[in-house]
Amino acid sequence: MTPDPFRAIEISRLAHRMKAEGAPVIHMEFGQPSTGAPAGAIAAAHRVLDADGMGYWESAPLCAALAERYRRLHAVDIDPGRIILTCGASPALVLALSAAFEAGDRIALARPGYVAYRGTLKALNMEPVELACGPESRFQLTAAIIEALDPAPAGLIIASPANPTGTILSPEEMAAIAAVCRRRGIRIISDEIYHGLSYVGAVPSMLEFEPGALVVNSFSKYFSMAGWRLGWLVAPEDLRETARAYVGNLFLTAPSLSQHAGLAAMDCTEELDGHVAVYRRNRELLLEALPRLGLTSIAPPDGAFYIWADIGHLTDDSIGFCKRLLTETGVATAPGVDFDPVDGHRFMRFSFAVSTPEIEEALRRMAPWFAAQPVS
Ligand SMILES: Cc1ncc(COP(=O)(O)O)c(C=O)c1O
Repeated sequence: MTPDPFRAIEISRLAHRMKAEGAPVIHMEFGQPSTGAPAGAIAAAHRVLDADGMGYWESAPLCAALAERYRRLHAVDIDPGRIILTCGASPALVLALSAAFEAGDRIALARPGYVAYRGTLKALNMEPVELACGPESRFQLTAAIIEALDPAPAGLIIASPANPTGTILSPEEMAAIAAVCRRRGIRIISDEIYHGLSYVGAVPSMLEFEPGALVVNSFSKYFSMAGWRLGWLVAPEDLRETARAYVGNLFLTAPSLSQHAGLAAMDCTEELDGHVAVYRRNRELLLEALPRLGLTSIAPPDGAFYIWADIGHLTDDSIGFCKRLLTETGVATAPGVDFDPVDGHRFMRFSFAVSTPEIEEALRRMAPWFAAQPVS
């Protein structure tokens, strides 16, 4: 099955064209940090470029460091051999789905959710079972929703913090979801790519509740290394050899240069936490200002760097709305339809992974623009 296109790419293309023509564009359409890799990672990359042949390679020190991170942050003991390095969370998701499920399997996921979940499932001929999640569950799946599914799906994808909402599941809900899934034989894939980006305290890993879960993660968000294409899958014991067979056939190894840099990035906590402090400030500014723009129905962004806003009083065409906002103010945002094909025509997503002056400027431009929009 062919996946749907990512509509934010259309907006981004237009934004880049406008920028090339001299327009002062502010990029709030993509979920990527506007900062580069941390200085320590770049220095490590410079050092190894002259010294390493850059062949196929899986960095044992990086797998060990990631395992140690799970021990320190989540008190879970993971054999580093269960960690498979990938070119980002995207291939880690392909690996996880391929290792755990068969074509035709039904996989449940929240709607709204990250566009590529649906697309990847379709590309692998699996059936996405999209479950509408509204403000009453903070746009997240609950154990009760999963309990009520009849028949039970083969698998479940959860994300906490989530894209596009930034909402976080409580430890109690995660434990309850793990218990329902265990009882009903539903295998969990947990996308933990936004770990490290929380404004409400520690975020648990699904591995704390379900050792049989497959966890995907990457260096694209907290570590600010999206273009370095480095991520990982934590495979459960029973699927580790299957997952390794898939990675060998589909992807071979992650980029060697990025593995060296990624290992160094793990020590750059001060710089990376500095980015989180900027996001925290940006989030506060947006939460304070957006209601004044008439956007009063927004998901509480506990983590990640997104605000998911209901614009149903202004439009039922989020693509056209975001395009007009871009061409008339230079502020690029993502239309809701990417994340929710049913209700997303009346939602939009702001990414606040930019600098605070950019957020201030975006708000200056958006205030009169939103005030001038007719309420339908
Ligand atoms: C929830 C989620 N999962 C996975 C990805 C893919 O990330 P990566 O760059 O590591 O492939 C993204 C990217 O935005 C995302 O938002």
